[in-house]
Amino acid sequence: MLIRNGMIYTASDSYKADILISNERIVEIGEKLKPSNNTEIIDVAGCEIFPGGIDAHTHFELPSMGTISADDFESGTIAAACGGTTTIIDFVTPLKGQKLSQAVEARHEKAKKAVVDYGLHIVIVEVGKEILAEIPNIVRGGITSFKCFMAYKDTLMINDTELLEVLYAAKKHGALVSIHAENGDMLTFEMNRLMAEKKSGPQYHPIAHPAEAEGEAAHRAVILAGMSGAPLYIVHLSCNEALEEVKAARSRGQFVLAETCPQYLLLSDEVYQKKGFEPAKWVMSPPLRNSSGLEKIWEGLRDGFIQTVATDHCSFRFKGQKDMGKKNFLKIPNGIPAVGDRMNLLYSFGVNKYKLTRNQFAAVTATNPAKIFGLFPKKGTIAIGSDADLVIFDPKKKGTVSTKTGHHNVDYSAFEGFKLDGMPRYVISRGKIVSNNNKFTGAKEWGKYIKRKTFDPREWGLKINFK
Ligand code: URP
Ligand code: ZN
Ligand code: ZN
Repeated sequence: MLIRNGMIYTASDSYKADILISNERIVEIGEKLKPSNNTEIIDVAGCEIFPGGIDAHTHFELPSMGTISADDFESGTIAAACGGTTTIIDFVTPLKGQKLSQAVEARHEKAKKAVVDYGLHIVIVEVGKEILAEIPNIVRGGITSFKCFMAYKDTLMINDTELLEVLYAAKKHGALVSIHAENGDMLTFEMNRLMAEKKSGPQYHPIAHPAEAEGEAAHRAVILAGMSGAPLYIVHLSCNEALEEVKAARSRGQFVLAETCPQYLLLSDEVYQKKGFEPAKWVMSPPLRNSSGLEKIWEGLRDGFIQTVATDHCSFRFKGQKDMGKKNFLKIPNGIPAVGDRMNLLYSFGVNKYKLTRNQFAAVTATNPAKIFGLFPKKGTIAIGSDADLVIFDPKKKGTVSTKTGHHNVDYSAFEGFKLDGMPRYVISRGKIVSNNNKFTGAKEWGKYIKRKTFDPREWGLKINFK
């Protein structure tokens, strides 16, 4: 395949050139490249070519709060593909008492249905001799990042001692620890207080998840990581309280990275004022924050304190799933659909609103997650030898985010009505066109599992204290 006349944008460069693809990889980049007889030619004059998006945080088919998230690896990756994302990293979430290897095997079975490439993180829900002994094998299998929860008391949450065990083990084996930073005790206290006052509607969800609880947990995670000398990645950072902790750590020379999501850049807690049960659509953790803080998150992203934008896609139908919590907001399954919207939203509301340059857009949606999670340079850039994963934006194409045109397997959109100014014309996964103007053109089970490399601090030039 020869892609002609597009403007190429990577994290570092902007230039006009043709791209020649063979055997799923980029083999040549240059001016006026010559096709051979059977080369498929695509002319994309006027379009902008970016590295295929990498969403490093999705939860497809996740058993949660008595139900299962609505997008499985097939519908979820179709939505990803149509929205310009060509790699996702999902999670293995073991049950307590389950061997990590067993949980990994089961997740691989589910993930076979993926239509774009995927990697896996693993959640460490408990810490003991057996779990720690399994870690080298997990890392050898390409799962080189561990997520730890400081919230969800009595289910996923681990305590500080356990977190330190994971940090030391991760450092030893070249893995990266990612953190859901909310103080579980503070949340539980607030939840109990609200319930005692019979405040059980979905509008109380954000009250039970105050920004102070995120700031406190981010602080503690940073201190524990600093003590262990391990690098740290804070997932779904939603507020300035947590961002300030990241900045303070970085100013001390500590190795701390952060991720945010489109919802924390573009939506605010005003949605929780909607009538009736409607706010349940945005019940997620952390919750949406005050609109006055959104600009701070954009600034953190632009200034490099936040390196990635993922989605934390965890979709539940409004009717039949979210409404399990109609009488009690604690029973509303947490999460929103977003994997198909991320690239579109960041292009229209980041690039087009002068909050991110096109190179920064490439960096935060693809290059940085690739470098952080051991996928670079196979993924995350446009270079000779890299997988031919591309998203070709037509800056003139306009649209509106909507359940009707989206591909998520749910009955609502968290971003309904957002106007898009520029959308993907073609999305290419390993040389195959998987989406043409928002129509899925890929193939069943096209996605391959990517064994990720161990964490390489040299990609970042930040101080890491290997004691
Ligand atoms: O509400 C959310 N974010 N659900 C998904 C699980 C998590 O905490 O990442
Ligand atoms: Zn989380
Ligand atoms: Zn998540």
